[in-house]
Amino acid sequence: MLNKHKFKRIGFPSFSSMRLLSHLLVLFLQLVPCVVCQVKEFVSIDCGATSTYTDPRTGLAWVSDTGITRHGKVVEIESPNGDIQQYRRRRDFPADTKKYCYTLNTHERRRYLVRATFLYGNLENGDTYPKFQLYLDATMWSTITVLDASRVYVKEMIIRAPSSSIDVCLCCASTGSPFISTLELRPLNLSMYATDYEDSFFLKVAARVNFGAPSKDAIRYPDDPYDRIWDSDLDKRQNYLVGVAPGTERISTPKNIDIRTREYPPVKVMQTAVVGTKGSLSYRLNLEGFPANARAYAYFAEIEDLDRNETRKFKMQQPHVPDYNNAVVNIVENANGSFTLYEPSYMNMSLDFVLSFSFVKTPDSTHGPLLNAIEISKYVHIIPKTDNQYATVLDALRSLSLELDWTREEGDPCIPAHWEWVTCSSNTAPKITKMTSIRWLDGNSLTGPIPDLSNLISLTILHLENNRLTGPIPSYLGNLPSLRELYIQNNSLSGEIPPTLLTGKMVFNYDWNPDLILRKQHKQNFKLILGTSVGAFVIFVVLLLGSLLQLRNLRRKTSQEKNSEKRDSLRIIAKPLNAYSTVRGGSLMDEGVAYYFTLSELEEATEKYSKQIGKGSFGPVYYGKIKDGKEVAVKILADASIHGTHQFVNEVALLSRIHHRNLVPLIGYCEQANQRILVYEYMHNGTLWDHIHDSGNQKHLDWLSRLSIAEDAAKGLEYLHTGCNPSIIHRDVKTSNILLNINMKAKVSDFGLSRQADEDLTHVSSAARGTVGYLDPEYYANQQLTEKSDVYSFGVVLLELISGRKPISIEDYGSEWNIVHWARSLIRKGNVASIVDPSLVGNVKIESLWRIAEVAILSVEPHRVSRPKMQEVILAIQDAIKIEKGSRGYLENSSGSSTMQPSRKTLLSNFLDIESSDLSKGYVLPTAR
Ligand SMILES: *[C@@H]1O[C@H](CO)[C@@H](O)[C@H](O)[C@H]1NC(C)=O
Ligand SMILES: *[C@@H]1O[C@H](CO)[C@@H](O)[C@H](O)[C@H]1NC(C)=O
Ligand SMILES: *[C@@H]1O[C@H](CO)[C@@H](O)[C@H](O)[C@H]1NC(C)=O
Ligand SMILES: *[C@@H]1O[C@H](CO)[C@@H](O)[C@H](O)[C@H]1NC(C)=O
Ligand SMILES: *[C@@H]1O[C@H](CO)[C@@H](O)[C@H](O)[C@H]1NC(C)=O
Repeated sequence: MLNKHKFKRIGFPSFSSMRLLSHLLVLFLQLVPCVVCQVKEFVSIDCGATSTYTDPRTGLAWVSDTGITRHGKVVEIESPNGDIQQYRRRRDFPADTKKYCYTLNTHERRRYLVRATFLYGNLENGDTYPKFQLYLDATMWSTITVLDASRVYVKEMIIRAPSSSIDVCLCCASTGSPFISTLELRPLNLSMYATDYEDSFFLKVAARVNFGAPSKDAIRYPDDPYDRIWDSDLDKRQNYLVGVAPGTERISTPKNIDIRTREYPPVKVMQTAVVGTKGSLSYRLNLEGFPANARAYAYFAEIEDLDRNETRKFKMQQPHVPDYNNAVVNIVENANGSFTLYEPSYMNMSLDFVLSFSFVKTPDSTHGPLLNAIEISKYVHIIPKTDNQYATVLDALRSLSLELDWTREEGDPCIPAHWEWVTCSSNTAPKITKMTSIRWLDGNSLTGPIPDLSNLISLTILHLENNRLTGPIPSYLGNLPSLRELYIQNNSLSGEIPPTLLTGKMVFNYDWNPDLILRKQHKQNFKLILGTSVGAFVIFVVLLLGSLLQLRNLRRKTSQEKNSEKRDSLRIIAKPLNAYSTVRGGSLMDEGVAYYFTLSELEEATEKYSKQIGKGSFGPVYYGKIKDGKEVAVKILADASIHGTHQFVNEVALLSRIHHRNLVPLIGYCEQANQRILVYEYMHNGTLWDHIHDSGNQKHLDWLSRLSIAEDAAKGLEYLHTGCNPSIIHRDVKTSNILLNINMKAKVSDFGLSRQADEDLTHVSSAARGTVGYLDPEYYANQQLTEKSDVYSFGVVLLELISGRKPISIEDYGSEWNIVHWARSLIRKGNVASIVDPSLVGNVKIESLWRIAEVAILSVEPHRVSRPKMQEVILAIQDAIKIEKGSRGYLENSSGSSTMQPSRKTLLSNFLDIESSDLSKGYVLPTAR
């Protein structure tokens, strides 16, 4: 009976080689950058396979999982249609309380499609169909319930990799034993499938349907260079696509379709569609795991040649989303052309298990609705993994004895099933409370010293007895706040037992360690203490002298090495700054020491302040030239009252210790006659603002120079955030505070002063410091300042660099008035080309642009937790530089290739294209991507 079930193929196109060639050519030449490199990054694991092989259908290389997992057994399948090699064998795992995992390497924050497939194959008499669970890291992915032994069950998850690897785990069988057929990892490109929620949610694919498909076979690689599986609408699985409206017809075209929007669906999928010739299109399908919140995409491309007097306009009727059912879709208009993809999407839609959807034509339209494809994915909340600090320690413990079976459990120590030798708390962020006895393991042989467990602050019980541990007992064990029981008996530990373990506050068994020394309770011997403390004092003094001498040597050395720009580290100010006389004696521009200028020296240097070169956040800036010929920028602090003498001197001390090649160095200062003046290195090429916005006599900045300036500035900020102690928040990051030296290297200016200034201001005013257009809205709202406020401002800087536009401008952005809203809505529509500075068009690669656009948009997220750290921003910029220096794919001039990233006409009440959520009254609103 069962044999009659048709073995369901994950179809590959029945291609003639000509057709394949032409597809590949199209892909290579126009659509997707570098298909070959993509494929190299594919990970295709055939679970249960006996060898590595290349699938002749696709040219994809499959590896056996033999070297990847040590568990389970291979089961041969007598499949009725066993011609797909991946499904000739499966791997079965024991039905026990453990979990069995595959670890896949990823690039953190890159997006991937992860796919696991399951074909059970044959059911012997007495077998029960398996039912078990599939996890991605600690997140429940799916329950695999086999109901049909000859069907391939496909589970796909779209993720942004949370770290440098992911675990795919099987566990918790309720019937039968867990098994798996294939495991695939497919990197996605650019911003494909980015969502607003990707920090906390994975996307579990619920439906991806190709309408008007030529056969029942699904379309995947090589038609889809990202190897998504596009199910055919002819595939009649249970409850799949029913309720089709009468008059629905299938159409197709051999013409190329421009699919370059955001998700890059395969051309082949877009070349077919269904049309409602009687005025409507409708379908019903089941969505596994729903009701839930979903990300939904519709793909439309006009593939009929419409006459000038013909139109195709329609509205969505179902699902019912008030406000949006009235919006009219006109594909040609929305996509700005026929044979061009229009890809509206809902960012967050609440859908039921049964999804009914329908489109109806408007009365004035001559043609009925058309649909090429849809995709629907469920948001799956990412469950946090066990705190990484435990993982590190556990790795160390395991490394003590690699031979033992218990060290071989994979995946997360606690979720979904905990490792046998650990006990976990059941909080949302699980912690290991107990590492239990390993004494029951025979021949157990933990050898070597006790690994570093000092991070395990919630560890309550530790059993390490009956092993062969050597070395001393670390004294921090006595200070672990939760540790109540410690068993180390029957080992070969040596040295003195730390007294903190002997205070009686914990159960402590250290028998059978012959080399352990138990110190006699120290009888308080006054003389001894006195003796030792005198001794200690002498030693202390000697040490002090020694270090002073060393310091002197060091200083001598550093002043010899002065002007070396390489050293980024903090340096000690050796001379007290409030004792001016000693400072005066110092040699000019001793590193780390701010030189003290008198007012008259500065008057002379600036020729009586004759040449103003700018206005900083704190006051006017003048050009000057000091005695040794060095050019300087002299900054007068306008509001002297906010800086008392003492504070000012402290700040100068702080500032002069901050040295980084991307920060404008402070050379000296003056504090005299109620004047407070700072003297900085002069930056010949002025501000970044002038270079971007003042088209006058400035040199034009090409994209690569902009990237390199961005990288410099980002490094300067990162140093302020992480390299300084205390760390410094700039608070006024903007293009006019990014200065360019004679070699066009960027340095950040005006940092550091803000700290003090603001502390003084807090009781006077609650106004946030910063510049309109760059100001972090969250800081503005609640006055809480973090490094992420600088990240926000820097995001605005990046948008300026991309677009060449000012942060705020009514002319440029209309009612949105600021660059953030304007750019965000366009970028979310996948329309990055339309925000590019016109002077860059033709000389920018779309990929590097995307990389920057993406990180810029993340940086200006309204909530600071969603914003990246400066370090991540730097990485993105460096990525973009790498891409840009490569040699492919320039974004062409818009007149030459208007369809590349068409800026779409936005209908006023555009149906799927409306952004964001402020209209919500209980119902869920679509947003655009
Ligand atoms: C896009 O994909 C190509 C290979 O197809 C790869 O070389 C490139 O780095 C990818 N771009 C990004 C931004 O990931
Ligand atoms: C989607 O919208 C719902 C309702 O407004 C909200 O509760 C949820 O957090 C949103 N995001 C996701 C990923 O579900
Ligand atoms: C459009 O015009 C053509 C002639 O140019 C005519 O044959 C056709 O019927 C017209 N179609 C409609 C819908 O009016
Ligand atoms: C000590 O541990 C060894 C294994 O390392 C075990 O064979 C022996 O029985 C243990 N001795 C005691 C007294 O528990
Ligand atoms: C639409 O396409 C035409 C050429 O087909 C082009 O001239 C026009 O600028 C485009 N409009 C938009 C808004 O992109």
